[in-house]
Amino acid sequence: MASHPPLPGNGVWNRRHVIDSASLTLDEVEEVLRTAKSFSHILSRPVKKIPTLRGKVVVNMFYENSTRTRTSFELAAQYLSADAINFSVSTSSVKKGESLIDTAETLAAMGTDAVVIRHASSGVCQQLVNYFGDRICVLNAGDGYHDHPTQGLLDLFSLKERLDDISGKKIVIVGDILHSRVARSNIHLLKLFGANVHLVAPSTLLPMQIEALGCTAHTNIEEALQDADVVMCLRMQMERQRAGLIPAMREYIRFYSITHERLQKFCKPDVLVMHPGPMNRGVEIASDVADNKEISLITNQVTSGVAIRMALLYLCLSTPAERSGLERFQADLNERMAAV
Ligand code: CP
Repeated sequence: MASHPPLPGNGVWNRRHVIDSASLTLDEVEEVLRTAKSFSHILSRPVKKIPTLRGKVVVNMFYENSTRTRTSFELAAQYLSADAINFSVSTSSVKKGESLIDTAETLAAMGTDAVVIRHASSGVCQQLVNYFGDRICVLNAGDGYHDHPTQGLLDLFSLKERLDDISGKKIVIVGDILHSRVARSNIHLLKLFGANVHLVAPSTLLPMQIEALGCTAHTNIEEALQDADVVMCLRMQMERQRAGLIPAMREYIRFYSITHERLQKFCKPDVLVMHPGPMNRGVEIASDVADNKEISLITNQVTSGVAIRMALLYLCLSTPAERSGLERFQADLNERMAAV
């Protein structure tokens, strides 16, 4: 067994829940990133499992579809030796009309320690925290248009892995800002680290007063992309579009799709491109941009998602005292391994 850097144990983290990005402080986010960095070393080992959360039970409650978030939360729990259950909404008593609180209460009565929830309604995570208090951990896996904090954190982690310091970097978020919980999470977290955040979309897909969050809004893509260091594409959310918000997809592609030509013409030469997934290839991003490993961080984002979710499960499901105990255990283990 290879050793890895000790797990951080003496930080500021004292939360049982992660339900939004805006309330996370710089110190808390730095602790999440440090912890995720430590776990990212485990992910490159042949044997990934560590006993850190043995005996804990994590339930994924996904009321909306997901590939990346659900799978990475499940893997993160398993790599930490927690028992991970995927609660299937479509075959559950939700279909017979059971409420969210009754469903969660049922899971809590079976010994669940944490619920990871994705839901179409903004605010469901807060509702669960108001009801359960600290009885179970609540982790937001995306609620309505409100927030997707673990996505914002994994995007930040991926960017800092590549650029280290993002202070002063021009980061342009392109696309359906109106319906995007990913954009809201990223705006707060990127600004916390001093990034210069710009948004660009047709005016019908830009929320009113979005600039109050401290970013610059544009409708002209050429103006927005000028000297950009990073371009973050958002998915066109076909399922959330109300009729008429964009006149025609063809026109959206013509004016806003991220292509090599646009990147080369307007952005910095070493520009990086991100996308939270799932992608509509040929709509918000050209395939050859998405697949270009020189500039695309898309696969790194997926990998970072596991490390970030391991970090959040670990931080929310353990106490500071347990974490410093683990740190001592890890240091001791590393010392013994080095002596063998
Ligand atoms: N980025 C993201 O949330 O992807 P999934 O919908 O596949 O989880």
